[in-house]
Amino acid sequence: MEIKKQIEELVLNAKNEILTIKTMNELNDLKAKYLGKTSPFAQLMSQMKTLSNEEKPLFGQAVNEGKNQIASLFDGFRLELEQKAIEEKLKNEAVDVTLPGVNFSKGSKHLLSKTIEEIEDLFIGMGYSVKEGPEIESDLYNFEMLNLPKGHPARDMQDTFYITEETLLRTHTSPVQVRTMLEAGGKKPIKIICPGKVYRRDDDDLTHSHQFTQIEALVVDEDVTIADLKGTLLVLAQKMFGEERKIRLRPSYFPFTEPSVEVDVSCGQCGGKGCSMCKQTGWIEILGAGMVNNAVLEAAGYDSTKYQGFALGMGIERIAILKHGIDDIRAFYINDLRFNRQFK
Ligand code: PHE
Repeated sequence: MEIKKQIEELVLNAKNEILTIKTMNELNDLKAKYLGKTSPFAQLMSQMKTLSNEEKPLFGQAVNEGKNQIASLFDGFRLELEQKAIEEKLKNEAVDVTLPGVNFSKGSKHLLSKTIEEIEDLFIGMGYSVKEGPEIESDLYNFEMLNLPKGHPARDMQDTFYITEETLLRTHTSPVQVRTMLEAGGKKPIKIICPGKVYRRDDDDLTHSHQFTQIEALVVDEDVTIADLKGTLLVLAQKMFGEERKIRLRPSYFPFTEPSVEVDVSCGQCGGKGCSMCKQTGWIEILGAGMVNNAVLEAAGYDSTKYQGFALGMGIERIAILKHGIDDIRAFYINDLRFNRQFK
């Protein structure tokens, strides 16, 4: 039948033309050409009316089959184009993991923070908890309850920034210990460390700063002895400076402890023989400590015939200076990045 040939030819032409298509627009145009209102199929259909009633259904069927064939060709090709577009997009947006990276300059913790955290970790490991308190303190907690009444000569050891007659910038973190003892109501045992900033009226130079950082420790319980203090000090010195270090306790004086000691660690540079670092003594002073004075325990509500305690206090800058061979305490505060970066 003549019409069949004609349709086969149309399908073949459509096939060939489809193969040349590259874009969705081209596909839509071509689809309009073959299947739209003015397409060859539409023209064929318009010939229908000239046919006999027997011919009409066969003719219509043949035209429709042809149209369907072409429509499914277009559908198939549309899918192909869409797939290609996705692949193209994936390719263009792909990340080349082999490209050299951009360097982000990461900050790091300040040496003071790192030293504080190191000491905190050590004490937390021994069952202590960390307590903080205000930097603006009362004369009562900073001095009086620590056995340092007004006019006591030992107040001169900590020349003070007063805000009013009764308030001041704390000169040590010992007032946090007073606060903790009061909170405990003179009954419960205590095992704390108190890190924080402290202030003294010093002229800033290589070894002095009007503001520095301390960690103090306080243990209060029944049956606490100076042997407990000594053992704690040895662990502290060896963990901070090295297992081979020794400690030495020298008698000293603090109003809040009795007896009081000054603690030395054996010199790491000469191993105790004597050198310039330890001023030929073999020892370097690191902190003050002692057994809590009964007067302090009693003032905080503890029965000193039942409870004893020990306390120790150290300057963090001093510990870091000794550990890292820093020659100027001011380096901690002026924030010269060249200094800070050395301790990344
Ligand atoms: N509070 C003392 C100071 O800052 C340090 C210290 C604490 C000494 C505990 C002995 C016991 O100087």
